[in-house]
Amino acid sequence: MTTDMHRRPGRRGDPLTDPDWPPRPLIVAVGNGKGGVGKTTDVLGLAATAGKHGIRTLVVDTDPQSSAVKASTALRNPGYEFVAELDPGVLARIGDVEGFGLIIVDTPGNITTNEVLAKVLEYSDMAVIPSDMTVLSATETVETVDYVTGHGCRPRVLLNGLPAGASRVELEARLFLARKAIQVFEPMITRRAVHQHAIRDGIPISEYPGDVADLARQELRAVLTEIGQLRPGLFGDAETGALATPMAAG
Ligand SMILES: Nc1ncnc2c1ncn2[C@@H]1O[C@H](COP(=O)(O)OP(=O)(O)OP(=O)(O)O)[C@@H](O)[C@H]1O
Ligand SMILES: [Mg+2]
Repeated sequence: MTTDMHRRPGRRGDPLTDPDWPPRPLIVAVGNGKGGVGKTTDVLGLAATAGKHGIRTLVVDTDPQSSAVKASTALRNPGYEFVAELDPGVLARIGDVEGFGLIIVDTPGNITTNEVLAKVLEYSDMAVIPSDMTVLSATETVETVDYVTGHGCRPRVLLNGLPAGASRVELEARLFLARKAIQVFEPMITRRAVHQHAIRDGIPISEYPGDVADLARQELRAVLTEIGQLRPGLFGDAETGALATPMAAG
């Protein structure tokens, strides 16, 4: 991370009033104490989508299994930058990184026992918590929400891997979270094999051919737009929050 993650040496002044101060990247941690809920899939999908819309994006992979970096390395043209970083000292400086519009941090399954991530959460604008909200993952999802909140970060659950269409499963998941006053993304990332195929074929989902990939892209764009509402204008139109026009395939 040394090349991309540089500090602002000797920088003085106020980032809010100094017009020359580069805008701080939006930092989004993606985590859930439950493994296999789609964290890495969502990180890769969101990063590729952001890159496609002209947002310079860095994926920071803090999972020792480094799935996000491995998958990104296999892509011919990911459209975003990526780095593996496990060093707590370096991760604690994530708030100093410049030059990106968006930093997405992929995390391992044991988020709530990992003090390194506690540090990352302190600097994150939001924690995206992917979950299918099945009986087995609901408890850990709620625990993750509490953990994230306890570390001063805004949690928002992202329903991932549910069947397409307005299903009873989705309704029940939303009701359950609403009763606990837990925020949920309005769009969800539906279960679609194309997410696996994109990684398998080394093609970012932003470039994957076909109508099903289009549906997946629509959902990812909607999630990214909702994330962008944290900082109006950062990702596109300040009033509508619409993302900039996608760039042609490179
Ligand atoms: N929306 C989706 N549609 C189809 N398959 C998905 C979706 N999301 C995740 N998957 C699949 O589910 C499996 C687990 O996903 P992924 O590796 O992204 O989860 P994870 O939370 O990062 O896991 P880990 O805790 O091991 O890091 C993968 O095979 C992935 O392709
Ligand atoms: Mg993962």
